[in-house]
Amino acid sequence: METASQLAVRLTKQSRDQFWNVYTEFDWPDSLDADRYAMTPELISIHGTELWESLDEPTRKRLSLYEVGNFFSLTLQGERPLVAGLSDRLYSKRLTHEGTEYIHHFIDEENKHMIMFGLFLQKYLGKVYPEKKIALDRTYAKGEEEVAFFCKVMVVEELGDYYNVKMMLDDAIEPIVKQINWVHHRDESRHLGFGRRHLTELTEQWMPTWSDETRAGFSDWLGQYIKSSWNDFYNPTMYKDAGLEDPYQVRKMALAHPLTAEHRARASKKLVNIFLRLGLLLEAPVL
Ligand SMILES: [Fe+2]
Ligand SMILES: [Fe+2]
Repeated sequence: METASQLAVRLTKQSRDQFWNVYTEFDWPDSLDADRYAMTPELISIHGTELWESLDEPTRKRLSLYEVGNFFSLTLQGERPLVAGLSDRLYSKRLTHEGTEYIHHFIDEENKHMIMFGLFLQKYLGKVYPEKKIALDRTYAKGEEEVAFFCKVMVVEELGDYYNVKMMLDDAIEPIVKQINWVHHRDESRHLGFGRRHLTELTEQWMPTWSDETRAGFSDWLGQYIKSSWNDFYNPTMYKDAGLEDPYQVRKMALAHPLTAEHRARASKKLVNIFLRLGLLLEAPVL
């Protein structure tokens, strides 16, 4: 099997061959078309619920703009600590020489993604939704922090990619949104490949040294982390901005609805299966 270092060499070459300029890649329209959905309707957080069925078409379309704005904000907010953590690992013992070479591209591409999402959000929403995650202080067993970091990377990238792939194939939505999702997926497919290989090697290195208690604690933390990442998709401010009444109640209703639970399980399947296979999750979390 190809090692993470060997894979890094191949990915570095691909990133150099496909090197792109975030300032020339897009023709930003002056405004978005109010007659189009800005986000694939099936991905909208309340899709299929009784509330969704009760909304008229203009309200659904307005909501789709704030939903995609929330999704792009979540991605951007996830990329900030990702870049910080990756840059912290450059030229350290935590990466091989080939790994460091590739991480330069990973960081470059994530920086461009933040610029791209930031441009969209400022231009069409006039804001970026703030981050909600609270960093909890905890003590780590040896290697645990390293494994946890790459798990967090995988959560933001795998969940995001599920949305990217759906939207990059949707001709009915705003063309600029479709294009952003396509551009993001193009880079992310490399990041995901590297992340999966690197996390596998880290897990094989560290997990055998962990006690049963550490393993169980890690699995609990990871399940909670995925759950809290999903909660961020049901942002009350986004509902309020779209003009929905009682935004906290909307969030509560949406999170408790069986159809949205099915969506979360479907969108997380690949991610959860990777963690289960590696033994990082001891059981599939209820999302
Ligand atoms: Fe990204
Ligand atoms: Fe990425």
